[in-house]
Amino acid sequence: MSASTVIKHVEALKVFDSRGNPTIEVGIKTDKGFASAAAPSGASRGKWEVEQYPPGGIDQAINLVETLIKPRLVGLRADEQETVDELLHELDGTSNFGKIGGNTACAVSLATALAAASSKAIHLFEQLSRTTSKELPLPLGNVLGGGRHARTGKTDIQEFLVLPVGATTFLRAAEANAKVHSKIARLLQAKGNPATGKGDEGAWIADLTTDHAFETVSKACEEVSADTGVSLRIGADIAASTLWNEEQKAYVYDKDAKRLNEGEQIDHMRSLIDRYDLIYLEDPFNEESFESFSELTRTVHDTLICGDDLFVTSQARLKKGKTMNAGNAIIIKPNQVGTITDASKTAKLAAQFGYVPVTSHRSGDTPGPELAHMAIAFGSPIIKTGVVGGERVAKINELCRLEYYSYKSQPLKLAKLPIYTK
Ligand code: PGA
Ligand code: ZN
Repeated sequence: MSASTVIKHVEALKVFDSRGNPTIEVGIKTDKGFASAAAPSGASRGKWEVEQYPPGGIDQAINLVETLIKPRLVGLRADEQETVDELLHELDGTSNFGKIGGNTACAVSLATALAAASSKAIHLFEQLSRTTSKELPLPLGNVLGGGRHARTGKTDIQEFLVLPVGATTFLRAAEANAKVHSKIARLLQAKGNPATGKGDEGAWIADLTTDHAFETVSKACEEVSADTGVSLRIGADIAASTLWNEEQKAYVYDKDAKRLNEGEQIDHMRSLIDRYDLIYLEDPFNEESFESFSELTRTVHDTLICGDDLFVTSQARLKKGKTMNAGNAIIIKPNQVGTITDASKTAKLAAQFGYVPVTSHRSGDTPGPELAHMAIAFGSPIIKTGVVGGERVAKINELCRLEYYSYKSQPLKLAKLPIYTK
């Protein structure tokens, strides 16, 4: 049985992500299986993420798979994920995948897990799961946005998000998010301020102030909730590092025409939480502002304060955050840290610390469904993966499938959120 997962062959090639940018894909063959995986890529990347590629870019990364990684990988077992991921660290030899690139590591790591699953004819989440209790995550959907994910005529805040907290099945949850997305286009049109396009994650782009954007999302949620019976709550990813101006020591809001110092930003975030009853707030402060995360977390009750650029899926940064109670949720993006094992360990540590691990896509994503399996395996009660666009729907549809087919055998139920839902 185990011999069937022995790695026989490894290849790397160039393919494209959802933005049309080149990315690395790795194919791995065992005796009994074959799988390939590509790495996603961010536009508002955290300063402390691992390097994406070696200094020579993707071509050098492909070359390194052939000359450095493949000779050591062939002969190992694909179902020994930790051994493979440790080998990637050893071959790299730096603390930030500066030699081989985090995207190279991520593609090799994920292709390994997929090849193991393929060899054993099991699902990826079964291959990756450390526990037996598995639940389907609730989808956190990006419905309106701006920031680095759009070009001009846009909101200052990167993402306005919705969470269908009242859904009883994943299908109903995904349906509610999709209805909010389409309702927003109609509301904007009716207001005479139509969406001008969609951003990198499929969210509508419109020339709106922060308040107008929240009011529109709020109205859409109310109407969809009334139509479907599924209650929805609002969230946002401020991606505040992209608003932060180091010289001015201020958060600069172009569309809202204001500049806020750190203290004013804390007050502003508190007032947005109160005014729009936010259940989720990601990166409300610059990626170095552990103290502000801590202060906000101390004074809110039913809101997830989530660190993305703050934690970059790093155990060390999460440990630092925990000592100060900075935030109560963490984004898990495997390519921020490089391997499946690293991402999985950070998610596990988060759960031990009482932080909610939110498994997340990147703005430049790949068309595969694997993130859906990672969210289940990492024990994430929430998956952040957009609402529309093929690469986003691939993950949503996979969760619909897992829910549908599991009803016939061992039911996969929707996770319960560890916070109050009004
Ligand atoms: P990304 O970030 O553009 O770096 O993928 C998305 C996010 O901030 O969540
Ligand atoms: Zn983010």
